[in-house]
Amino acid sequence: MKSPIVAPSVLSANFAHLAADFAMLNESAAEYIHVDVMDGVFVPNISFGLPVIQAMRKLSAKTFDVHLMIVEPDKYIDAFRNAGADILTVHLEASTHLHRTLQKIHASEMKAGVAINPHTSVQLLEDTINDIDLVCVMSVNPGFGGQKFIENTYDKVARLKDLILRKNAATLIEIDGGVTLDNAARLVQSGADVLVAGNTVFNSPDPAATILQLKNIA
Ligand code: DX5
Ligand code: ZN
Repeated sequence: MKSPIVAPSVLSANFAHLAADFAMLNESAAEYIHVDVMDGVFVPNISFGLPVIQAMRKLSAKTFDVHLMIVEPDKYIDAFRNAGADILTVHLEASTHLHRTLQKIHASEMKAGVAINPHTSVQLLEDTINDIDLVCVMSVNPGFGGQKFIENTYDKVARLKDLILRKNAATLIEIDGGVTLDNAARLVQSGADVLVAGNTVFNSPDPAATILQLKNIA
C-alpha cells in the first residue's frame, strides 16, 4: 500500500503560537498544510481569512491545501492565490457552475479541489472528475474540528476510487474529518491518498511523531 500524504489541519493549531506550530510542521513528514476557511454562512462557524493565510505563508514553504467552506468561492479565487494557496478546494454544494470554477482555479495556477459533504454522492463528480486534481471527502459535517468520523466514508471512498479509475483520472482522494491512528489504515486501503488530521496531530503529546505514524500507517 502506498503511504499517504499527511495534511495537518491548522484549525487545531494554537493561534497564539502559530510560529511554533509551523516550525514543528516544517520539520515533520507532513507534505501539505490544510487550511480551513469558514464564513459563518456555508458552515455554522467562522475561522480565519486572507490576512491570516498570508501571515502563515511566510512561515512555511510546504504545500498550502486551502479548503474553502464559503459561499460564492469564485469571487475570491485570485485573492487566495495571492495569499499563498497552492491547492484551492471549493465545496460542490456551494458551486452553481462547478466546471467554470475549476477552470478559474486552474487559470490562477493552482490545483483545483472539490469537497463533498457527507450527504453528497460521488456520482455527482462523474462529469468533472477529469478536471479535478483532488476530491476532499468530508468524513464529518464541515464546520468544526474534533468531530466523530462517519463510517459510511470507507464505502464512499471505494466508490470514488472506482470512478477515478474508470475515467482514467489523476485525481487524489483526500479524507477530512475525524481521521485517527485507528481509522487511517483502512482509509488508505479503501483508496485515500491524502489524510487531513487536526485533533489527532495537534492534541498529540508529540505531534511530529503522530504525523510520521500517519505517514507510515499503510
Ligand atoms: C472540518 C474541517 C477539518 C477539520 C478536521 O470542517 O474541514 O479540516 O480541521 O479536524 P479533525 O481532524 O480534528 O476532525
Ligand atoms: Zn478541512
